[in-house]
Amino acid sequence: MPAKKLSQKHSIDLNKLSWNDFHALPLTDKSAFFKKDPRVFDCLFAGQFDKDILNDLFKLADKIRTKAQTKRGLDKLQQLLSHKRACLYFAQPSTRTFLSFQNACHILGIKTSDIRSTAASSEAKGESLEDTIRTMHSYVDLIIIRHSNPYIAEKAAWIINQTERPIPIINAGSGPQEHPTQALLDVYTIKRAFGRVNDKKIAMIGDLKRGRTIRSLTYLLNNYKNIHINYISTDSFKIPDDLVEFLDKSNISYSQSDNIESIKDADIVYLTRIQDEYDVNNESKLVDHSNYWLKKEHLKLLKKDSIILHPLPRRNELPEEIDDDPRALYWQQERNGMWIRTALLAYIFKVDKAI
Ligand code: NCD
Repeated sequence: MPAKKLSQKHSIDLNKLSWNDFHALPLTDKSAFFKKDPRVFDCLFAGQFDKDILNDLFKLADKIRTKAQTKRGLDKLQQLLSHKRACLYFAQPSTRTFLSFQNACHILGIKTSDIRSTAASSEAKGESLEDTIRTMHSYVDLIIIRHSNPYIAEKAAWIINQTERPIPIINAGSGPQEHPTQALLDVYTIKRAFGRVNDKKIAMIGDLKRGRTIRSLTYLLNNYKNIHINYISTDSFKIPDDLVEFLDKSNISYSQSDNIESIKDADIVYLTRIQDEYDVNNESKLVDHSNYWLKKEHLKLLKKDSIILHPLPRRNELPEEIDDDPRALYWQQERNGMWIRTALLAYIFKVDKAI
């Protein structure tokens, strides 16, 4: 593959950098490496998406879901990428991200294979993660990765883009770092609910420190005007310093609160689960989280036209008794994930114009 240059201004040949040097570059300097003619090719970070791409993806997802309603439309969609194969490498638990990606592939005719744990791959025999990725690359045209290692999706793209047959890599959740396609479906859901994303107040609640959906959604919302985010959590689960730094330089206005009642101003209430899989010393168990659970009594505080979202899976922070409230949109949000992921695949493989 031809060496990808940073831009005319820079003359660093990204292929000549070591992984550590490459990885340390800010996204603005390396995003060209994850593009092809000149689209997003590897989907790794929410920061790769600008407003134009987002609008295109949202329109495309709307078209796909309409087409998919009839057999004729679905048959046509299934022809588009019937010559492609994907490997879903999910080394962390997943229900909806896995199934929605798998079904997104199937809607476009992409055949799928999967590895759902490191115990089931040759990593269990001591193979390096890098060699495992190279092996998947030998057989398929797309790799979708969820892994507890926050950097492996990027590293996979770095390795595979330097082979003679680059294929797209999609990050389906990278440790506590990023979950860009979750952010796509979150913003798509907001857009469908309100018709626009600008001028919205969002309350994000729960494990803001380790929630990868919180980070990716924050990055994506920076594409919109007049956004306010109110981050609500206990002191020990506040957003990390680097996200505060990002926000200070961003277009987003934000506040931090330890009072769930501050949801009363929100247009969107975005709840998250405590990510205790990342606990080092059982720190989640040391805190009483119940003050950050949405309870039925909170519903009367909420604006009539607000919406309640959650990336799911949920625990006590979102009791089932909320499900009947018309503002509860998380089941629609979940289904939106399949359509926006289908749109993303169509965009990456450049069949969007045929839809
Ligand atoms: C989220 C994740 O995996 O980060 N789930 C998902 O992809 N829908 C949120 C979570 O697990 O809490």
